Amino acid sequence: MSAEMDALLEESRATVSGAMEKYAPRISLASSFSPEDILIFSLMKEFDPNARLFALDTGRLNPETYECAEEVRRVFNVDIEWYFPKTEDVEKLEREKGVMSFRESVDCRKECCGIRKVEPLGRALSGLDAWVTGLRRAQSVTRAGLELVEGDEGAGIVKINPLLNWSFDQVMEYVRREGLPYNKLIDSGYMSIGCAPCTRAIEAGEDERAGRWWWETPEHKECGLHLKSGGQK
Ligand code: ADX
Ligand code: SF4
Repeated sequence: MSAEMDALLEESRATVSGAMEKYAPRISLASSFSPEDILIFSLMKEFDPNARLFALDTGRLNPETYECAEEVRRVFNVDIEWYFPKTEDVEKLEREKGVMSFRESVDCRKECCGIRKVEPLGRALSGLDAWVTGLRRAQSVTRAGLELVEGDEGAGIVKINPLLNWSFDQVMEYVRREGLPYNKLIDSGYMSIGCAPCTRAIEAGEDERAGRWWWETPEHKECGLHLKSGGQK
């Protein structure tokens, strides 16, 4: 392992262990079953066999993501805390605007993310003092200024970003070397894991998040999970 990877791992372990010591059991990993999330969860398990993980099932995830979730459940022997959107909100949205309304405008897309992700996230966070995410600075212009530990003003709880300084290639090198489960979408060219109709594989030379809401401009590419205001942009 390179000295750079050693240093990154040390930083991530220290961030995770410090947070677990302070907040367990009221701390949980938010997982989209990206390689980042699974790497972090393996570190959390090193410090606490009862480490927690929650996931937002938007109803529109890829089959590969559900397969990966099952593998994570089995390999780590963890009860995944799933959160669903409110049935009546999804029914209303789909009855009034169809099942692909997110393609119509940024506002329509944020309405869908609001119902399927942001509202359930609020419920997931309500019983926690801290949440852990797989955010990395290299992912996008909107994430370059993040810190390892942040007070999340929107949710009123602390947010821990242990992989902030890793590159995608470094994450995958570690995941493959340690034999951790990973989402098979990665083998098809995905660098970011989201909802099936809003995420595609990327081409060589494209930005990491080019495959997310690819019809929108880069500054719009947040769904509301990670906005400081806690609301939607
Ligand atoms: S998003 O805001 O655009 O959807 P992204 O897919 O980059 O976020 O993921 C960043 C981090 O947000 C993930 O590492 C994970 O911690 C959290 N996250 C994203 N999607 C979900 C989800 N469906 N369920 C739980 N956590 C999620
Ligand atoms: Fe809806 Fe797409 Fe947002 Fe998923 S990513 S919640 S399908 S708009």
